[in-house]
Amino acid sequence: MKSRFAGLRENGWSAPPPDQPSDDLLAVRDIFKYFSFGPSVPWAKKRTIRAVDGVSFRIAQQETLGLVGESGCGKTTTARMILGLLAPDAGEIRFLGSEIGRRGPAKRRDRGRIQAVFQDPWSSLDPRMRVGDAIAEPLVVNTRLRGQQLRDRIAGLLDAVGLGPGAARNYPHEFSGGQRQRIAIARALSLNPDLIVLDEPVSALDVSIRAQIMNLLKDLQQEMRLSYLLIAHDLATVRYLTDSVGVMYLGKLAELAPTTDLFARPAHPYTLALIDAASAEVRDRPPIVLSGDIPSPADPPSGCRFHTRCWLYEQLGRPKICRTEQPPMTEVLPNHASACHFASDAMHPPTRAAVAGTSPSAATRAAAASVVGPGTAGAVMPVAPSRPLRI
Ligand SMILES: Nc1ncnc2c1ncn2[C@@H]1O[C@H](COP(=O)(O)OP(=O)(O)OP(=O)(O)O)[C@@H](O)[C@H]1O
Ligand code: SF4
Ligand SMILES: [Mg+2]
Repeated sequence: MKSRFAGLRENGWSAPPPDQPSDDLLAVRDIFKYFSFGPSVPWAKKRTIRAVDGVSFRIAQQETLGLVGESGCGKTTTARMILGLLAPDAGEIRFLGSEIGRRGPAKRRDRGRIQAVFQDPWSSLDPRMRVGDAIAEPLVVNTRLRGQQLRDRIAGLLDAVGLGPGAARNYPHEFSGGQRQRIAIARALSLNPDLIVLDEPVSALDVSIRAQIMNLLKDLQQEMRLSYLLIAHDLATVRYLTDSVGVMYLGKLAELAPTTDLFARPAHPYTLALIDAASAEVRDRPPIVLSGDIPSPADPPSGCRFHTRCWLYEQLGRPKICRTEQPPMTEVLPNHASACHFASDAMHPPTRAAVAGTSPSAATRAAAASVVGPGTAGAVMPVAPSRPLRI
């Protein structure tokens, strides 16, 4: 397999030109999206949010790429550009070699080949529309299926997501949250897409239902040869469903790697902190705890954007380069890139023996929980470093 990182550039790497053979379904190259806001009077200064600030990645056929990162780091904005709902300010997104424009893929025959499933199925289901009509809508607009053929197709889609054909006659409010998400998936599948953008598809569901929907997504991927872009906060979901993961921080990719590598050998201090906060695993090293607020995307820190919260920056004695130079995405292992000037140090965090310490404070536990939400305070190991890594 060719290297995912062929032709690394400052903000990522170059997608192959359209005439070059590629197994990529989607190639996102150096995309930017800034939002301006402020008073509408001409003399008042506007502020600019750098929601997505030079992001590149690829998704191969039948691959699942996960995007993770704290709230506001630009995951949904990236997804909306891929769906053609927002145009990038710069950079390009290519689907099967042709550029995605404002209305999605440029070629008419490719429309419908990228679909989305969102956290809240209500956003894609009209409460006044029967489920059968909601699934029929894209088919009527985009295909010639009518009458019995259309009804058969709807029944087939409902069957594929584990609902009986009778569901077509009911309204969305007559279903549970998990069933509504199945309906949203059936609708997304209706036009035989190649790529489905899943933006927090299970985070609003009960834990027991989550596993069912995750297994459904896996089965459908196998059967229908789908690719997914999965956006999720929950690292367990990402680990289970994805082949590769991109970790985003303040509009940029901090790390991008095959999923098993990312969890086994994280090469960015931010990734390590996210993994530590979400895992109760006992390791031979102190817990890495991330604290402090995320800086504003309207005024990101100079140099490496993560330096205001980076434990490694503190540990290394605050090297100047972290404040002055933006670290480029660099391949540190095969197909594994990190945007950290000191990625090799990040891959070898201090061992417990090197930093024998005391019990973590309540504040340390609270900070760990705050990284990825409640229920993760157990992530803090019972031994903290004598030299605190928390800043
Ligand atoms: N239409 C918009 N106008 C102005 N700012 C926006 C707009 N859409 C997004 N933003 C801002 O861009 C940044 C990135 O937002 P985005 O929704 O992509 O984040 P996210 O990673 O999906 O967050 P979450 O995990 O909370 O869903 C945020 O600061 C957000 O407030
Ligand atoms: S470049 Fe410096 S501040 Fe940024 S992640 Fe690496 S060590 Fe931390
Ligand atoms: Mg979002």
